[in-house]
Amino acid sequence: MKWLCSLSLLIGFALNPALAQTTDLPDPALPRDDYVTALLQKMTLPEKIGQLRLISVGPDNPKENIRDMIEKGQVGAIFNTVTRPDIRQMQDQAMQLPRLKVPLFFAYDIVHGQRTIFPISLGLASSWNLDAVATSGRISAIEGSEDGLNMTWAPMVDISRDPRWGRVSEGLGEDTFLTAEIGRVLVQSIQGKNPADRHALMTSVKHFAAYGAVEGGRDYNTVDMSPQKLFQDYLPPYKAALDAGSGGVMVALNSLNGTPATADSWLLKDVLRTQWGFTGITVSDHGAIKELIRHGVAGSPREAVKVAIKSGINMSMSDEYYIRYLPGLVESGEVTVDEIDDAVRHVLNVKYDMGLFRDAYAHLGPVGSDPADTNAESRLHRAEARAVARQSLVLLKNRLQVLPLKKQGSIAVIGPLADSKRDIMGSWSAAGRAAQSVTLLEGIRNAVGSQVTVNYAKGANVTDHQGLLAYLNQYEQTIQSDPRTPEQMLAEAVAAANKSDVIIAAVGEAQGMAHEASSRSDITIPAIQRQMIAALKATGKPLILVVMNGRPLSLVHEDQQADAMIEAWFPGTEGGNAIADVLFGDYNPSAKLPMSFPRSVGQIPIYYNHLPSGRPYRFDNPEKYTSHYYDEANGPLYPFGYGLSYTTFTLSEVKLSATTMARDGSITASVTLTNSGSRDGRTVAQLYLHDRVSSISRPVKELKGFQSVFLKAGESQTLTFTLSPDMLKFYNQQMQLIAEPGKFDVMIGLDSARVNSASFTLL
Ligand code: BGC
Repeated sequence: MKWLCSLSLLIGFALNPALAQTTDLPDPALPRDDYVTALLQKMTLPEKIGQLRLISVGPDNPKENIRDMIEKGQVGAIFNTVTRPDIRQMQDQAMQLPRLKVPLFFAYDIVHGQRTIFPISLGLASSWNLDAVATSGRISAIEGSEDGLNMTWAPMVDISRDPRWGRVSEGLGEDTFLTAEIGRVLVQSIQGKNPADRHALMTSVKHFAAYGAVEGGRDYNTVDMSPQKLFQDYLPPYKAALDAGSGGVMVALNSLNGTPATADSWLLKDVLRTQWGFTGITVSDHGAIKELIRHGVAGSPREAVKVAIKSGINMSMSDEYYIRYLPGLVESGEVTVDEIDDAVRHVLNVKYDMGLFRDAYAHLGPVGSDPADTNAESRLHRAEARAVARQSLVLLKNRLQVLPLKKQGSIAVIGPLADSKRDIMGSWSAAGRAAQSVTLLEGIRNAVGSQVTVNYAKGANVTDHQGLLAYLNQYEQTIQSDPRTPEQMLAEAVAAANKSDVIIAAVGEAQGMAHEASSRSDITIPAIQRQMIAALKATGKPLILVVMNGRPLSLVHEDQQADAMIEAWFPGTEGGNAIADVLFGDYNPSAKLPMSFPRSVGQIPIYYNHLPSGRPYRFDNPEKYTSHYYDEANGPLYPFGYGLSYTTFTLSEVKLSATTMARDGSITASVTLTNSGSRDGRTVAQLYLHDRVSSISRPVKELKGFQSVFLKAGESQTLTFTLSPDMLKFYNQQMQLIAEPGKFDVMIGLDSARVNSASFTLL
């Protein structure tokens, strides 16, 4: 009986004349649940399973293959296709299927811009400015939806405290509160009021969960952490993105406490669905279902599929496993039709929310409306990209106010990253085109015109390590090495420096060095570039380093050698102009680090909100049996929240509205912020809290609020933060989220290391 039933399901409409007839979709005016229920009732099993396949267009899967799959009704969504004609052709196919015409959705990794590339996420986080974040999100959604897309695999909100991990570049840093705030604003600005709107995209927050905590910073490695740490520090950003309405969740590749996330029904069902009430889709990451075999939780592809679907993976990304094995699993009764329906319901939910059942072509428009030139300059948003990029640049050092530079005399512009159009965009640069990005050299030339002589020399290749070059160029020739010898290149650079008044050297990492599968065990600038910096220093000319990189680097030597240093991350399409704005004082730097910069790799993990030790080390009274390294300082080179300005800001003492807080009440903490220097500028006031005595150890401080403030020279402003018992809550040993009575420190500073404090008691 079971066999008969499944056979008819499998061969479906092909043999059943009733089923073969064209079936109309339900009335799109129905509310979502009714619509989806009605649609599910009309679907055959093969049609349902087809909805669960998410397929990527790429070298292994050319468009032609995919068209064939669509024709067989075996595809629910497609990613990596980014032009309207291509997308339209695929949607046409789905809309011309003989029976049920369920539209496809189209996704892409729009992580920091689609055509106009904004700073990498870590740079965006450095702005600490939610308006700038919203601008980047909005433009990404406009450009993505103009390209016919419906979804982005973003935001990436994996907390990471390990700069060895290459993917810190895609995240928003080490802090839970900052990441959650930015993640929330990204979702709101990308999805807009409604992900179905013409210029909105649905988001898919990733990578659920705790991918940023891979052991040793080695990509795809294991994660093991206490429930307290998971719920207190790592999960809130995903939750914030979902509370903001993110329609999708991409599941992480790592295992968490022994269970691969792709096989973790506790994570994907109990936490995500039951506790958090999520009704959108879960998608596996690239090939993650197959990887369950290597993780050792499935003995065969068939078993991997069974585990994944039962654990709550709705769509399988980039494999054919669901299509191939689910029919048999249903036939044998190992997977129930209810389990399939549950997964399909979520896929249909998001298609409904994307507005695809009302209009499958909403983001495509009619055929004649396609842009004549997909890459046209007019499709870019350069002004917005420049305005955001300059807010992402962190001034790390400025000895004797060497910056800002005057637009006069001569400048040597040196370094492998000074004129690299590809690198300045960073990794995951979506449909951005290197040819359209502005390098630092170009930005400087644009800024100074003919007023200044610019002497350019590359100085060194980004690395001369042949193995690394081969690794970085494996799939795409992204690094073009200069064939000259290191000596020739260096001689040219030193000559350029000698005939200039000042040196600006762009050094750091190629974009591919801070990417997926780009973990490092050494986080210094490559040796060949360090030799170049030393030679430039030896010229005696003022040396300004512009560091481009996708992770905190260990910059102890550079800090000693440079007169000024700007952390530029990878600032995107308008990066060169934005850096020039800062170099010449057309923009007063305002960014703050979203991650601690270690002095050396041995200090990792290093983060500001660590727990206290029972044997703290005291710098002013060193004791042997205390927590420290005997060959390295404990603290970072640059702390979380740090960044200089061309003006000076001073903060008054912290004033509290009361010294006690009722359990159902709130108090305020205020400071007066003064721009005590001679230039207008923006800075970030940061609020940290500390629970002095509680049932479990609590961090020495935790960020709980921030305000990005612009003040004219000489101006003051009183800033007020409201404190409530909710901000004092933590997961206790029994995993209850509570605020315990007692004393709390309130700290406000312009970075995490230097703060003014006051205290109050929670009753
Ligand atoms: C990455 C994801 C990305 C996906 C699709 C995977 O390799 O881990 O972050 O969204 O590919 O491109």
